[in-house]
Amino acid sequence: MIRFENVSVSFSQKNRELQAVKDVSLHIKKGQIYGLVGASGAGKSTLLRTVNLLEQPTSGTVYVNGESINHLRGKALRRYRQNIGIIFQHFNLAANKTVRKNIEFPLKAANVPKEQIGKRVDELLELVGLGDKSEEYPARLSGGQKQRVGIARALANNANILLCDEATSALDPETTVSILKLLEDINKNYGITIIMITHEIDVVKMICSEMAVMKDGSVVESGKVIDIISNPKNAFTKKLITNSENYELPSEIIAQFGEGSIVKITYLGSDATEPILSNAIKNHNVDISILHGKIDYINHIPVGTLIVSVKGDARDAENAIDYIRKNTLRVEVGINEF
Ligand SMILES: Nc1ncnc2c1ncn2[C@@H]1O[C@H](COP(=O)(O)OP(=O)(O)OP(=O)(O)O)[C@@H](O)[C@H]1O
Ligand SMILES: [Mg+2]
Repeated sequence: MIRFENVSVSFSQKNRELQAVKDVSLHIKKGQIYGLVGASGAGKSTLLRTVNLLEQPTSGTVYVNGESINHLRGKALRRYRQNIGIIFQHFNLAANKTVRKNIEFPLKAANVPKEQIGKRVDELLELVGLGDKSEEYPARLSGGQKQRVGIARALANNANILLCDEATSALDPETTVSILKLLEDINKNYGITIIMITHEIDVVKMICSEMAVMKDGSVVESGKVIDIISNPKNAFTKKLITNSENYELPSEIIAQFGEGSIVKITYLGSDATEPILSNAIKNHNVDISILHGKIDYINHIPVGTLIVSVKGDARDAENAIDYIRKNTLRVEVGINEF
């Protein structure tokens, strides 16, 4: 659906060239919700903006539906852009226009016949759950409601791709979940392909099936969200994930058990049917104390995390940990590792 092939984007900044995107190759399949994460300045927005040619690649090609879009200009570009909606962190609504007028705007720009516009806006208001707000001005809406207007406006011309640049970053956690649910419904019901830029790993876990991690303009890791979150290969990715997890144990607990005995186990919900810990205790003559535990849902797949202390003779402890490692997704030993 969307394929970046060796895409680079450079800017001239104060007489020097800045490569904001470096040789990125990625494939986003039709109907997917794809997450794009990375630190500030990594080049995420610049890469996203090549999809609607708000940024032109300096080299490389962006293919959409199998065709290169690099050469599109003028009328052909305007027509192409109607298929691509975009929403932003700060909503970018016209403050002096009502909700209805904001949503009408792209329909008028696309020369949709007047008599069809009212009906289409009503449909869109219904879709985003704002049926009763059509005559309000943006200033009187909550952040979540403003983003709903943004989504309605982005989809007005039946876009089949929706680009989201930090679309939930200005919203509280509860409103974020409601907007993510709406995006997921839109994706399922209309097959719209969504690219989500976010700095929140939790957002990716909630709705994305695949993801890419960007650092200094390059993609350092990409693939299925479940694989990357449960077993990140790249040190930067690992740090992003760890920072989002917050497994701080009280210092007296760490002192009591000893840093080196503390082990973090990541396991698939489906592994939970096996008595892995009790087997480890029985067969390897160790004591295992559970210090922390939780279940997360990654793209609707249950993934558990347990932090335990494994105590026993060094050899036994090593064998027990090996046994656990073989039967779970990932095991990290020593508190400094996670
Ligand atoms: N129009 C521009 N002219 C010059 N430099 C730019 C332009 N747009 C972006 N840059 C630079 O390109 C780099 C990547 O910027 P970009 O906005 O793509 O990063 P980002 O990953 O989206 O960051 P953030 O998370 O802060 O939004 C930055 O160093 C930025 O200063
Ligand atoms: Mg950005």
